[in-house]
This record gives sequence, structure tokens and C-alpha cells, in this order.
Amino acid sequence: MSAARLSLTHLTIRFGGLAAVDDVSLSVAPGTVHGLIGPNGAGKTTVFNLVSGLLAPSSGTIMLDGKEIEALPSWSRAGLGLARTFQNIRMFAQMTALETVMTGMHLRMKAGPVASILRMGRFRTEESAARDRAYEILDLVGLSQSAQLRSGDLPYGDQRRLEIARALALEPRLLLLDEPAAGMNPSETQQLEDLLGRLKQQGYTILLVEHDMHFVMRLCDEITVLNFGRKIAEGRPEAVRSNPQVIEAYLGTRVAKSLAGGS
Ligand SMILES: Nc1ncnc2c1ncn2[C@@H]1O[C@H](COP(=O)(O)OP(=O)(O)O)[C@@H](O)[C@H]1O
Ligand SMILES: [Mg+2]
Repeated sequence: MSAARLSLTHLTIRFGGLAAVDDVSLSVAPGTVHGLIGPNGAGKTTVFNLVSGLLAPSSGTIMLDGKEIEALPSWSRAGLGLARTFQNIRMFAQMTALETVMTGMHLRMKAGPVASILRMGRFRTEESAARDRAYEILDLVGLSQSAQLRSGDLPYGDQRRLEIARALALEPRLLLLDEPAAGMNPSETQQLEDLLGRLKQQGYTILLVEHDMHFVMRLCDEITVLNFGRKIAEGRPEAVRSNPQVIEAYLGTRVAKSLAGGS
């Protein structure tokens, strides 16, 4: 797998009079974890919606590995290796964990609808390969023991890792994760951190929106800070956490001190 590079150039979207994302440029280097942080309403999820193709920019460009993608529909961006998770859980509670991951794969399965109905020939081979791969992905996220459980019955932290598993089923090279640690207890957060570390090791490029600053500072190679749709800072975690503008707009002095203390 070759890791993906994402580059945004002068990206802007206006909703009526509001520029929710305002002239944002940033580059996510291949194989890195890049944080996108800032207060609520700063435009982080809107950036994800623009990159994944749910929204079209008013101006600016989005490049994946040097290819402009901002005019492509979201399914074709997924085909190029881009996958995301959502800020709030979006899953079918009745499906098992295994089925949930397998539904993420159908885009890539080649057998047509007739073969699918007959469950014959090529489809059977594809389905068993898909099942094997789904088990591999569940194993990667630490959920192989839960393959046959209904996703709605999983503990909250497992459900959030299952969403990542579903995104991984697309075989992406760039993962957009929108607040994956939100609502997690400390041990769930730790499991998630371990998982993202493994994904980075395997060569995924990750763009991460998250409010847990200790988590962000430990995981990210680079961080971009948004405020009112504009980029106000960018750099290594150590530089960002001590940037006075970032402290004023978002972190506050108490969090900044605790981050500097390494606690
Ligand atoms: N589809 C939309 N229509 C109108 N306004 C929107 C839409 N999506 C987001 N916004 C506005 O854009 C701003 C940024 O929102 P969002 O990207 O969700 O922020 P964040 O994820 O950083 O909390 C907010 O003011 C929000 O109300
Ligand atoms: Mg958001």
C-alpha cells in the first residue's frame, strides 16, 4: 500500500453569509497522523464533508496524490482510497459486526446482482474472500471476538472502533476520523490510541479531528488549528500547544499547562 497525500489549497465554502471554511490550505504528508483541531463550529467537520464529497467548495482545490478531486462524486473519491467516519455513530444496530464490515466492501466486489442473487460461482469465491478480509480487519481493530454480535449490543468504545473497521473495509489509503474518542472512557481511549498507532505503522494516512488534547498531542505528527473557519496555526504538537493564539482561541491556559507538564 502506498500512503496517500492530501493537499487543500485556499479551500472555502460559504453558507449564505458565513464562510464555514475560509481560505484553508494544508497538506497531510503520506503515512502521518495530522490533527485538525479547534473550537466547536470552527469548520472541522465541514472540511471533512468537503474532502469526502458531501459538500462542494465555493472555491479552492482538494488534491489526493496530486490529482484534483473536488469535482468528483464521493463514491469515486472512495474508489481512489478515501474513507471517513462520522462525528456521531451511524450504523445499523441489527447487523452483526462482521456484516457491518462486509457492507463496507460491496463497492469493491465485482460480481453483478444476478450472481449475487444466485450466490454462485464467482460470487461465492468473492464472498468468502470478503469474509476472510472482514475477519482480518476486525482482528486489526481488536473486535474479532465480537464478529457475530449485533453492533448495537457492543459497548460504546467497540462500536466506535467498528466504524473505523467499516471504513477500513474500503481499503482506503487516507482515513478521515471525526472525533473518534468522543464519549470514550480512558481505557477505550487507550485502545483507540493503540489502534491508530497500528494503522499509522501500516502506512495509512490519517486526518484526525479530536478534542482530547492529550490524545491528539501524543498521536499527531502535525496539527492544523481552525477558528471561525480560518487556519490560525499549524505545526508540530509542541509548537501548537504553546502558541498563544491557539491557547486564547481554543486550549485555554489550564489545558495548555497540563499539556506542557506532559500529564
Ligand atoms: N450544511 C450547513 N449549512 C449551513 N451551515 C452549516 C452547515 N454545515 C455547517 N455549518 C456551519 O458551519 C460552521 C462550522 O461547522 P462544523 O464544520 O460542523 O464545525 P466543527 O466540526 O468544527 O464543530 C458552523 O457555524 C455550522 O453551523
Ligand atoms: Mg464537528
